[in-house]
Amino acid sequence: MAERGMKRGRAWDETGVKKAGKVIWRSFSFGAVALLATMDSPLTPRSGPKPTWPIYKEVGADFIGELLEGRYKIVRRLAKGGMAHVFLAKDLARKCYVAIKLLRACSPEAHRRFAVEAEILSNIRHENIVRAIAFGHTADEQPYIALEHLDGETSSQRLALGPLPWREVAEIGIQIADALHALHRVGVIHRDIKPDNIILTRDADRSVAKLIDLGLASVGVPFHEAQDARFTPPVIRHKTQLGRAIGTPDYLPPEAGLCDANPLLDVYLLGATLYQLCTQLLPKLAGLRPIHEVNPSGEAPEDLRDFSARRSSPR
Ligand SMILES: Nc1ncnc2c1ncn2[C@@H]1O[C@H](COP(=O)(O)OP(=O)(O)OP(=O)(O)O)[C@@H](O)[C@H]1O
Ligand SMILES: [Mg+2]
Repeated sequence: MAERGMKRGRAWDETGVKKAGKVIWRSFSFGAVALLATMDSPLTPRSGPKPTWPIYKEVGADFIGELLEGRYKIVRRLAKGGMAHVFLAKDLARKCYVAIKLLRACSPEAHRRFAVEAEILSNIRHENIVRAIAFGHTADEQPYIALEHLDGETSSQRLALGPLPWREVAEIGIQIADALHALHRVGVIHRDIKPDNIILTRDADRSVAKLIDLGLASVGVPFHEAQDARFTPPVIRHKTQLGRAIGTPDYLPPEAGLCDANPLLDVYLLGATLYQLCTQLLPKLAGLRPIHEVNPSGEAPEDLRDFSARRSSPR
């Protein structure tokens, strides 16, 4: 994952095709193998009723026009996620648009995760990871993160129009794999890779995929150590308990919750996400069939098909 398969924006050549195929299928094959190995696990996470959190008084139209801390003027709502509202706002100091992610859930755990999300995003610089600009509170003490505004659409919005062309999926795969590599290098596991959490934007004449939503990220020792060397460490450090799977159930591997968060979890999630972008189905629902069987009109090249057929066959 450390190497980029090719320079972005360059025409695809044969080598590029092979390298991109490897990135995608390396991701997917890890996922498929893990899934096959543990298919009967009693702890297989299932979609069920969504957990409920105590939430702040919901903000709506009344929030439009608000001025946060004398700086961010709320323009309109962009989205309402499970944990947060996201608004478009004008940053009056820097004279540019920003996205304001306002926490909805008000439990202590939600507060802790939100602060961790702000801390990670404020310490990571990567072209394919959304940048945090500020962390603050509304007049009612509701926390928010000001993020760079990503002008584009989520990959799930694109997926609603049909499967994405395989070249585009390969490019998204390379970019998000690179973003994950940067997170893993500093001890952060994302844990919630899915089409909703990838925004497709454009930079000049090329597309750039941006990873968002570090709200469920697990932070490991290297990140803590680096932060402790710079700032006074917090008294209590949180550790996720085993037996509790964290993430979006449909995307998680069956072993989630049985072992500590580790980079392979993100590799699995990325594999499942790329498969879904190519086929509109999660691999579990497609019976783990190779992509070109599920989506014959996808026109994947011969070598990618061979590679995928080899990787998908049980060992
Ligand atoms: N920086 C941004 N620029 C533009 N839109 C954004 C930005 N960040 C988030 N969004 C939009 O807001 C939605 C929700 O954001 P995010 O996933 O961070 O919130 P969440 O509440 O943690 O989500 P979830 O529903 O996954 O729990 C995204 O899917 C995207 O549509
Ligand atoms: Mg999200």
